[in-house]
Amino acid sequence: MPSSIVLTGATTGIGRATALRLAGRAGHLVLHGLEPESRVADLLGEVRAALPRGGTLSYLAADFSQLVEAERLVSDIRAVTDRVDLLVNNAARPGPASRTVTDTGYEVTFQTNYLAPVVLTSGLLDLVTEGRIVNVASATHLSATLHLDDLGLARHGYSPSTAYAHSKLALVTYTCWLAAHRPSPSVDVVSVHPGIIATRLLHAMFSIGGDRPEHAAANLEYVASRRDDNGTYYDERDPASPNPEAADPATQDRLHAVTVDLLAY
Ligand SMILES: NC(=O)c1ccc[n+]([C@@H]2O[C@H](COP(=O)([O-])OP(=O)(O)OC[C@H]3O[C@@H](n4cnc5c(N)ncnc54)[C@H](OP(=O)(O)O)[C@@H]3O)[C@@H](O)[C@H]2O)c1
Repeated sequence: MPSSIVLTGATTGIGRATALRLAGRAGHLVLHGLEPESRVADLLGEVRAALPRGGTLSYLAADFSQLVEAERLVSDIRAVTDRVDLLVNNAARPGPASRTVTDTGYEVTFQTNYLAPVVLTSGLLDLVTEGRIVNVASATHLSATLHLDDLGLARHGYSPSTAYAHSKLALVTYTCWLAAHRPSPSVDVVSVHPGIIATRLLHAMFSIGGDRPEHAAANLEYVASRRDDNGTYYDERDPASPNPEAADPATQDRLHAVTVDLLAY
């Protein structure tokens, strides 16, 4: 049966390539982007052409640097579908040059790359009754340390790449927590490092080259099509060990408790 798929950060880089790749097996493809719909008409036309007969496409814009927009995205998605077979949390930003705090008081990288996907996932969880949640992480999380007492990195030496890796460690830790507390055995929650890919995000933080976004899209499609792998962290297509902090149930629980306090639910 064609799937109901939600993909964030779908308008550029890995997300764009993944949208085009997943379109062929989507009964209903819900794409999220930062840009208003009028600015992504070309992409939406390409995606629509790749849908199977009878497939439908929805596009919803939300800026995750406004947490209220992540919350609104939940409502907007719920208004267009009552089922999610695959949720891919792909949207993310590099750390800005200097530490930046959002209107809601959170360091912007942490909010965009961690808090917003948690809001989205929590808000859609009851729609994922027999499906998969794929969180796009990064191998940079392996070298990070989770500062549970300073998640906004106010005291622990901010740098753009540190903030980015820290946000991804939080996302992998959350993935492990959710895998252990999944609503049903028919829901699998995994995270994946998509590869080193030549995108705006990569070049904003690292002076290295990378593979084409289509390489990562193929990895994400592969991971999205696995089964019975709840809690797995993938390095591209290979199951791998995540940062030991992410795998530690006590750390997972502490992050969850702090996150609940931050989001007040
Ligand atoms: N590239 C790599 O080598 C690499 C390696 C490891 C992990 N990853 C992960 O792969 C995923 C895709 O990244 P990418 O490399 O394809 O980078 P990208 O081309 O910059 O794409 C990031 C996506 O996130 C969206 N986004 C950024 N800020 C946002 C915000 N405030 N609210 C909502 N959406 C926002 C972007 O929208 P706009 O385009 O409109 O700004 C874009 O669609 C990310 O999770 C990234 O961490 C990438």
